[in-house]
Amino acid sequence: MCSAAHPADSLNWTELAAAIDRDGFALTPPLLTPDECAAVRDMFDDLDRFRSTVVMARHQFGEGVYRYFAHPLPDPVARLRAEFYPHLARVANTWATRLGTPAFPLDLADLHALCAAAGQHRPTPLILRYGPGGYNCLHQDLYGEVVFPLQLAIMLNTPDADFTGGENVFVEQRPRAQSRPMVARPTLGQGMIFTVRDRPVPSPTRTWRRVTLRHGVSEIHTGSRHTLALIFHDAE
Ligand SMILES: [Fe+2]
Repeated sequence: MCSAAHPADSLNWTELAAAIDRDGFALTPPLLTPDECAAVRDMFDDLDRFRSTVVMARHQFGEGVYRYFAHPLPDPVARLRAEFYPHLARVANTWATRLGTPAFPLDLADLHALCAAAGQHRPTPLILRYGPGGYNCLHQDLYGEVVFPLQLAIMLNTPDADFTGGENVFVEQRPRAQSRPMVARPTLGQGMIFTVRDRPVPSPTRTWRRVTLRHGVSEIHTGSRHTLALIFHDAE
């Protein structure tokens, strides 16, 4: 197995932006080495690193457990967030221009200042763990008025070796049309960039219209599946 990890600056952002525009999500090359994936998986059991734990069944969110990191965010969480944000902000700002909405700052610290002004102070990066029977209901990760429109999730296990089942599911809702289902199956260390809430698509009658995306995870049949999810806006 190739153990190289690709820094954000080395990715083909023209291709990625085109895929995100077309489908609302895109897979990246591996962003973490197998050793880095193992190290992040191991963080899950180190409770001091986290500000809260959510047992999904208690909220009818699905079946599994996730934990939100506390500050200071560890490496590679902080590094990946800082590396990816400027690239994703350019995609977000193309969308903002199309939709006639305010642009996002190109610096992550400035996004967090906007969040703080709206009462959103808590960090949102998280690790999710699912066992057999685990799943995640379709949802959107909204934590207040400030919503950065793209997020990044990284697969921390090897599909078909560490777990079976457990595909990433996306459902796109277009106005007055039936929903479009899509499935992604990232390999170890691979990233998925996807739409948090909605994005502009060309409209036959107007220049651009919004389509919404919800995401979830299908049932894990066997084994254990971990994901690192990097949301860029802070939470209330
Ligand atoms: Fe999510």
